[in-house]
Amino acid sequence: MRTTPLHDRFGVEIHDVDLREVTATNGYTEIREAFENHSLLFFRNQSLNDASHLAFGRLFGPVEIREKEPEKHEAVMSLVSNRLDDDTLATQEESRRVMQMKANQLWHTDSTFLPWPALANIIAARVLSSTGGQTEFVSTRAAWADMPEDLRSRIRGRVLKHSYGHSRKRVSETAASEDFIAMWPPTVWNAIWPNPSHGAEALYIASHAYGVEGMPDDEGQALIDELTAFCTQPHYVYSHDYAVGDVLIWDERATMHRGRPWPYKEERSLASICITAGQADGIELVRPAA
Ligand SMILES: [Fe+2]
Repeated sequence: MRTTPLHDRFGVEIHDVDLREVTATNGYTEIREAFENHSLLFFRNQSLNDASHLAFGRLFGPVEIREKEPEKHEAVMSLVSNRLDDDTLATQEESRRVMQMKANQLWHTDSTFLPWPALANIIAARVLSSTGGQTEFVSTRAAWADMPEDLRSRIRGRVLKHSYGHSRKRVSETAASEDFIAMWPPTVWNAIWPNPSHGAEALYIASHAYGVEGMPDDEGQALIDELTAFCTQPHYVYSHDYAVGDVLIWDERATMHRGRPWPYKEERSLASICITAGQADGIELVRPAA
């Protein structure tokens, strides 16, 4: 595969691939290897529809279903968008959807608040605003490798507590008051998630993390904030400015990301699915010892 680096520490663009044609025996092995090594993959000029996007995602594993009993539901495409179900745009600064988008603009890892953490997010740009709307990424593997030992020693071996309501409360009580949020009790995951195929460690943190087991929550939150600040220093950030047809895949085990604002009077819609992590993806390596 022909690739071009996106950032000096992580991320590659992969050229000359039509993701509609990738199967388990045609291209997936190479793409998966690049995913394990580079944490963020970029493919341009793609033409995925819902069905081909979901089919490509299933090569990585089961598509995440955010329902209490996922086995009773079909996986569907979700849109990261200010277009509402009634086809109007959420333009009001205080609207619930804009609040959700603002929460998305905190540095985070997807789905750490679910009982089944995500391996990857696969996103495709469908409708873009005239300005803004970038997604920014950092490698928590690179940042962890660089981190001074005095900071590393304070988090190594620790377990973080995550809750969806926590990240929403950081934006507004409106965003935290949705019924959806009450569905998910807090989760706990190891602070470090080693990659099962080559062993490289990465910090597994998110805006959803609100505490560290064995510490008072205010102290834990201060440590999480300090770690996040270290990982998101400007020299670690890759900012992706979308063109329609761009597809990005990122490794939730080794990155954090955040959305950037755009003029909400203009539609901006990204099609997004998460893939749930399984045994082969190292789920047992992030699950705290009983
Ligand atoms: Fe996200």
